[in-house]
Amino acid sequence: MRVLFVSAEVAPYAKVGGLGDVAAALPRALADLGVEIAVVTPKYRMVTERAGNLTPVATFPVAVGGEVRTCQAFRGSLSRSEVPLYALGCDPLFDRPGIYGEGGGGYPDELERFAFLARAALDLGPASGWLPDVVHANDWHTALIPVYLRAELAAPARSVLTIHNLAYQGSFPRARGENLGLNSVGWQLVTRGDQINLLQGGIQAADWITTVSPSYAREILTQGEGLEEVLRARRDQLTGILNGIDTVVWDPSSDPHLWAPYSAADPSGKYENKRSLQTALGLAPADGPLVAMVSRLAEQKGFDLVLTAFERMMALGIQFVVLGEGDPRYASFFRGAERRYPGRVRALIQFSEEWAHRIEAGADLFLMPSRFEPAGLNQLYSLRYGTVPVVRATGGLSDTIHDYDPVTDSGNGFTFTDYTAEAMLSALSRAVRLWRSDRGAWRRLMVRGMGEDHSWAVPARQYCALYERVLAGRIPRLTEP
Ligand code: ADP
Ligand code: GLC
Repeated sequence: MRVLFVSAEVAPYAKVGGLGDVAAALPRALADLGVEIAVVTPKYRMVTERAGNLTPVATFPVAVGGEVRTCQAFRGSLSRSEVPLYALGCDPLFDRPGIYGEGGGGYPDELERFAFLARAALDLGPASGWLPDVVHANDWHTALIPVYLRAELAAPARSVLTIHNLAYQGSFPRARGENLGLNSVGWQLVTRGDQINLLQGGIQAADWITTVSPSYAREILTQGEGLEEVLRARRDQLTGILNGIDTVVWDPSSDPHLWAPYSAADPSGKYENKRSLQTALGLAPADGPLVAMVSRLAEQKGFDLVLTAFERMMALGIQFVVLGEGDPRYASFFRGAERRYPGRVRALIQFSEEWAHRIEAGADLFLMPSRFEPAGLNQLYSLRYGTVPVVRATGGLSDTIHDYDPVTDSGNGFTFTDYTAEAMLSALSRAVRLWRSDRGAWRRLMVRGMGEDHSWAVPARQYCALYERVLAGRIPRLTEP
């Protein structure tokens, strides 16, 4: 079975959030199961700089966005693996400093950039001689792939579309869609009032739709950011498969970014990481729990609750560190908090893989009060690093984090349900109280989380079974009326 996996991000070459992590780790896990898989991504400037040994394999014309552009396809491999990575080059579109934009703003031609990616990914097969059985698209950036396949191409490939985040749909004024080379069937699939909506098109056209946790798959049928009806119409071909994590990149016993290695069997090194983190960040060596957030600074992640509750959080006697980039409103709040709480608050407004690992290792608690969360990877990294998650029970967070119960000494974190500052504070104060009052129970809670298996082995088998099912299904092509 040949699978072409297409994504706008692939870690560590180009990553903004969890999509990049998934696009690197899931294909590797599928290859381990014997799936013949290749990954396709744009050849952004940072991919050229970071991916190394990319060799040119094909040059072909791509007609999209009102003009015929040339695609230069390069071949390399995913990091630490033999899985082929195709970087599709078109310098006028991708040779830029950013992935989606620069300095907080998006590039104005994102429709043309990602329509090019979708079209070129499909044209790569004939140009390179490697024809996939299944094309696996991810998020709105590649949602035109199922549309092109379903409506227009004679190609026999089937399509799977994974929704990582329904909040981003690729919605543009209708007039902008006129250059996409869609026939009337394709046009109908993407049209939404006076807009075109690429994710809607992908949901309607894909042979199968997945999302990244079972709870999110259920939630979006009623809270689908406007697409709930479209999703309900496809509910029989919509599956939630929970994300895994890369257990080699995220392993506290061998993580090169840490000050000291540690493991569930011997977690003592965690305290050394905490002390070193405090020193490195200029935090006082105080005896209070260190609470961390590592996150895109986006409304989705629950920052409104944190801003509202911040003084009351600090009154619990905690230290707080945040690592993130994004909305300037949140960034300036945290910069101000850093000034107001010297030695107790640090705000790293940047993207840094190294700090993400060090903070996961050094913190006691990881706060993730998301308004919605399709899957979430950071709570899983936190479990593995013995950093107890405090999360809002939504989407993938409710599938992975189970509230601590002092009576049965069970659970792996602290959860709350209502999207309110009070509910978040109450979960956080339960956590802080346990941290202060019962170190034995705390250690058991930490070690329980560290021992959980969140590798990609199980989800990769589920994707594999899904590809087989889709290939057996023979869903008829749509033809022009
Ligand atoms: P999302 O994809 O919605 O951003 P996830 O929890 O699935 O949320 O994944 C976020 C990923 O991005 C994690 O790997 C996290 O460590 C990483 N990340 C987010 N912000 C930063 C940052 N400022 N620096 C380094 N890594 C970050
Ligand atoms: C999205 C979601 C996040 C998920 C990630 C990878 O960005 O916001 O919850 O973990 O994609 O699937």
